[in-house]
Amino acid sequence: MTSYNILVLFAIVAFVNSEIVNFEECTYPEGTPLNCTIHEVRVNPCKEAAESKPCRLKQPSKANISFDYTADFQGDTLETTAYWTSKVIDLPLLGMDTNACATTTCPVQPGQKQTYHIELPISKTFPSKTYKVKWRLWNAQEQECCFIFQLKLHK
Ligand SMILES: *[C@@H]1O[C@H](CO)[C@@H](O)[C@H](O)[C@H]1NC(C)=O
Ligand SMILES: *[C@@H]1O[C@H](CO)[C@@H](O)[C@H](O)[C@H]1NC(C)=O
Repeated sequence: MTSYNILVLFAIVAFVNSEIVNFEECTYPEGTPLNCTIHEVRVNPCKEAAESKPCRLKQPSKANISFDYTADFQGDTLETTAYWTSKVIDLPLLGMDTNACATTTCPVQPGQKQTYHIELPISKTFPSKTYKVKWRLWNAQEQECCFIFQLKLHK
């Protein structure tokens, strides 16, 4: 095999390994204008995506999470945080880089489709269970992109 073929093979394997997962949009009080479209959310590893089940992630490990979005807003800086969400509280996930500009194009421009990605540390200390994860990304004016998906952590 030529090194070019090997490269192509690696690229295909990397692509196949990143699975498209189900997500829902965040909910807001009625009448709140939405400022962002989420196109696709990908998690690696996530064999379970094929059966539309929550991704099972080993603790400790790292998971690659990426999503494509189009913001309706402008932003020189973008912050991001993931939360374990429930009806009562959103608990921020500690240990992640909250500067979204580290892995997405800044400044963000309205109507421009782009991608954010992170290698998320899955700590051993998180209780092992199925989580609803709320992911937010916002500018200085608190206009945001937001979606919710599920992750199942196990030891
Ligand atoms: C995440 O992505 C990085 C860079 O593309 C890669 O080196 C790493 O192996 C990936 N990790 C997992 C868990 O897939
Ligand atoms: C969208 O932007 C408008 C104007 O800044 C703001 O009032 C509204 O709360 C934002 N909506 C969301 C969901 O962030």
